Amino acid sequence: MKVAENLLQQVRQDLKQARVPLSIFADPEIFQLERQHLFARAWSFLAHESEVPQPGDYVLRYVGPDDQVIVVRGEDGKVRAFHNICTHRGQVVCRAERGNTSSFVCSYHGWSFKNTGELTGVPAYKESFGYAGLLKREELGLKQVRIETYNGLIFGTLDASVPSLDEFLGNMKFYLDISPTEAMRV
Ligand code: FES
Repeated sequence: MKVAENLLQQVRQDLKQARVPLSIFADPEIFQLERQHLFARAWSFLAHESEVPQPGDYVLRYVGPDDQVIVVRGEDGKVRAFHNICTHRGQVVCRAERGNTSSFVCSYHGWSFKNTGELTGVPAYKESFGYAGLLKREELGLKQVRIETYNGLIFGTLDASVPSLDEFLGNMKFYLDISPTEAMRV
């Protein structure tokens, strides 16, 4: 908290002279605070629905600076977002920045996941000593990220308890209603 208080003090000082302290952009402690208090708790813009128009279309994006997510339109036409992490041993399941696929296959041990998230394929499921035919496959689908949309803009958050996107956007919706693409550049 001390870092946050010092930062606030410094910003107030510098703003009096119409300056923004450069440390804001480079200080690792500030970056940590942003991770913790901002990115982990806010809605992040991920994609526009028009980027994934067809079933199977996907794009890779980030929630905050660290968490890569796959935004994908499933075979059922619904858009979802998943952590790009295999539920077996944590390898990424998608390496291309965009594309179209019916499933994501992990390159480590070959587990495959439908574009709706379910785990569908586990090589050597019955034969492997490690699995012993006992895996609860229905519990091992890709981990879903909470998303909501506004005017076709897809936002995601890692915090299930944050208020709705509608509430989060508040007056910003005025600008999104006028011109979504311009507003996203602000
Ligand atoms: S880490 Fe993905 S299949 Fe093992």
